[in-house]
Amino acid sequence: MASVPFDQLDGYIWMNGEFVKWGDAKIHVLTHGLHYASAVFEGERAYGGEIFKLTEHTERLHESARILGFTIPYSVAEIEDASRELLKKQGFTDAYVRPIAWRGSDSMGVSAQANRINVAIAIWQWPSYFDPEQRLKGIRLDIAEYCRPDPRTAPSKSKAAGLYMICTLSKHAAEAKGYADAMMLDWRGQVAEATGANIFFVKEGKLLTPTPDCFLDGITRRTVIGLAKRRGIEVIERAIMPEELEGFEEAFLCGTAAEVTPVAEIGKYTFTPGQITKTLMDDYTAEVQPKRAAAE
Ligand SMILES: Cc1ncc(COP(=O)(O)O)c(C=O)c1O
Repeated sequence: MASVPFDQLDGYIWMNGEFVKWGDAKIHVLTHGLHYASAVFEGERAYGGEIFKLTEHTERLHESARILGFTIPYSVAEIEDASRELLKKQGFTDAYVRPIAWRGSDSMGVSAQANRINVAIAIWQWPSYFDPEQRLKGIRLDIAEYCRPDPRTAPSKSKAAGLYMICTLSKHAAEAKGYADAMMLDWRGQVAEATGANIFFVKEGKLLTPTPDCFLDGITRRTVIGLAKRRGIEVIERAIMPEELEGFEEAFLCGTAAEVTPVAEIGKYTFTPGQITKTLMDDYTAEVQPKRAAAE
């Protein structure tokens, strides 16, 4: 599958209310979303035939669009139904789900008040975001040169395509140096997150994670916090300075795509994936499985 370009995969894509053949889900080159990044998207995973936290993701898609100043012309329920139907139509039980909404091609220019809002959903198989072997040993992260922007500089609460420009740049720079990904600091120099996942640390049996005040408060992040609390692990959300990494014992990333991924190195700092990371990895794996009716 890896060698097949994404525009040539099989099946269907849901686009503006219809299921269209995968290869026919096209847009015009003069699309506002392409030129001016007026697009918002989600990343979801289906496990055992059910999309994990689908409503939270779909509500966030709506909220991301609202922050960018447009309204998605399909309700949360309509998008959820389309996502579930598409998952069945694609014939997958475990898969990655990508809804996206963008301003269309009715007019070109920075202002695009009347451009049609388009919505599409694609579903494909995507087993592990990071190399599975590397993942268990702990991945290696560089520290990115680009910083997460001040919320006065960019709409940081929106899962907006434009915010990924610095993520791709940072990830490419890290990969060129042999790292799996990069940890990004924010505009104040505080630890923020990776290029597509949130970050956690363990110190003296407690879980630490940066306060999400200028980056995405991930759905997986919130899930992991809940799982840790359920285990009686204290969770501290606070500003974390990069120098503090010296004294941290474990580190891991989490996100829909990354799930819970142990980290072995961040720049000059090293970590040993330990009991808390392993427990949360296992708890997350159990948590995402569909909760069947008690009768089963
Ligand atoms: C930049 C960034 N941060 C954090 C996350 C984690 O968010 P979630 O757990 O909602 O997938 C993602 C993935 O969507 C992301 O792209």
